[in-house]
Amino acid sequence: MDHDEFEEAVAAEPDLYIDGGRPLQGDVQIEASKNAVLPILAATLLTSDPVRLPGVPWLHDVDTLCRVQRSLGVDVSREGRDLVVQAIDVDPFAAPEHLVRRMRASFLIAGPLLARFGAARVPLPGGCAIGSRPIDLHLKGLVALGADVQAGSGYIEFRAPRLHGANIYLDFPSVGATENLLMAAAVADGWTTIENAAQEPEVVDLANFLCSLGAEVRGAGTTELRIHGVRRLHGTTYQVISDRIEAGTYLVATAATGGDVTVGPVLPEHLKPLLAKLREAGGEVDVQGDAVRLRQRGRLRAIDLKTMPHPGFPTDLQAPLMAALSLAEGTSVITETVFENRFMHIPELRRMGADVKIDGRTALVTGVDHLTGATLHASDLRAAAALVIAALAANGRSTVADAFHLDRGYADLEEKFAQLGAQIERRSSCSEVL
Ligand code: UD1
Repeated sequence: MDHDEFEEAVAAEPDLYIDGGRPLQGDVQIEASKNAVLPILAATLLTSDPVRLPGVPWLHDVDTLCRVQRSLGVDVSREGRDLVVQAIDVDPFAAPEHLVRRMRASFLIAGPLLARFGAARVPLPGGCAIGSRPIDLHLKGLVALGADVQAGSGYIEFRAPRLHGANIYLDFPSVGATENLLMAAAVADGWTTIENAAQEPEVVDLANFLCSLGAEVRGAGTTELRIHGVRRLHGTTYQVISDRIEAGTYLVATAATGGDVTVGPVLPEHLKPLLAKLREAGGEVDVQGDAVRLRQRGRLRAIDLKTMPHPGFPTDLQAPLMAALSLAEGTSVITETVFENRFMHIPELRRMGADVKIDGRTALVTGVDHLTGATLHASDLRAAAALVIAALAANGRSTVADAFHLDRGYADLEEKFAQLGAQIERRSSCSEVL
């Protein structure tokens, strides 16, 4: 999909039509990780040299951050599938509210802007409607690094002629806060320690990217990051890791439909928490090099799972796996500990016949022997993925409205599922086709 087609697809806001009941079979090509691209794109603000990121997928969230960067004065261009970025004449006060509000990850520009330019104004972020998602940990950490933080109406203003290293303890291992502080500390004076840091693979990828710019970061992938600030960072070409959540989504869809699918390239290490659960539910998992194959014969078995910061089970795959488990033998107990209010897919699954009871942050999912196609409404990115999976496994036709949520995080989703044998099509609800 080129840029114009992408824009048209988003503007038209069509629905997805899915005729379910076909086991998925074949191979899926996995893209570069959305959640790694976004902080890395923000980190390009730290250098005036050009940065090339090969093979960045067309995703709505990536497009949003590119637009934010362009509004700041950054030169962002596409060369084939590569993204080429150069931040020379930057206005750190120019981030537009309407773009930042679209996506919480836009707030990742705060750390690098402040660190390089000594000041920044960043509108308050938006994002998926999943819980209150505050930014207090980002702000506390930046204050510890020496920032003066003033909240205006709808935006936050930061000032600090020079940031200095600090010892920061995060109350919770927030991915975004760890990333914002890591970027700021990379060019602060002296040593910074971030304790109780997030250990997600995307944080490690950001640290590796920063090191390829000349930063000094130790301990990435552990709970303690140590960063020695350097005066200047330089350009680089950097290959972002592949998307463990995209890969996981296709694997869970395979489990739900009783299929046989290989995903790659992936770093199987990143998928461990999911693969353990898929095996427990009765799937046959084969890992070969950078590919993972899942064969699901017969009905899934119920399992219990609890979302946790990495290396625990990822919250982004909770909704997709719940969709699959709604067809399992027995009752699964699913607890969401990372976000409040990340159960918005449940009323939609119930419309298809799923038996799900909610008790606070826990969902009791008693498997039914079939789901029935229905008209569904997607509320956020991963809820939308869950509904697609349920629809692929259900009997009959489903319609998923507000399918544009999927474009935030999945490139060519219909094409990829269609290649696996799914009957899936996107079209405007007023269209006469099909
Ligand atoms: C990132 C991912 C998102 C994933 C999430 C958890 C990106 C672009 N998005 O989101 O897909 O679901 O990690 O793995 O990488 N919190 C606070 N105060 C803060 C920051 C966070 O209380 O200052 C809370 C949030 O409300 C939430 C929890 O911490 O309940 C996790 O948030 P966080 O790890 O920051 O997630 P994001 O970086 O927003």
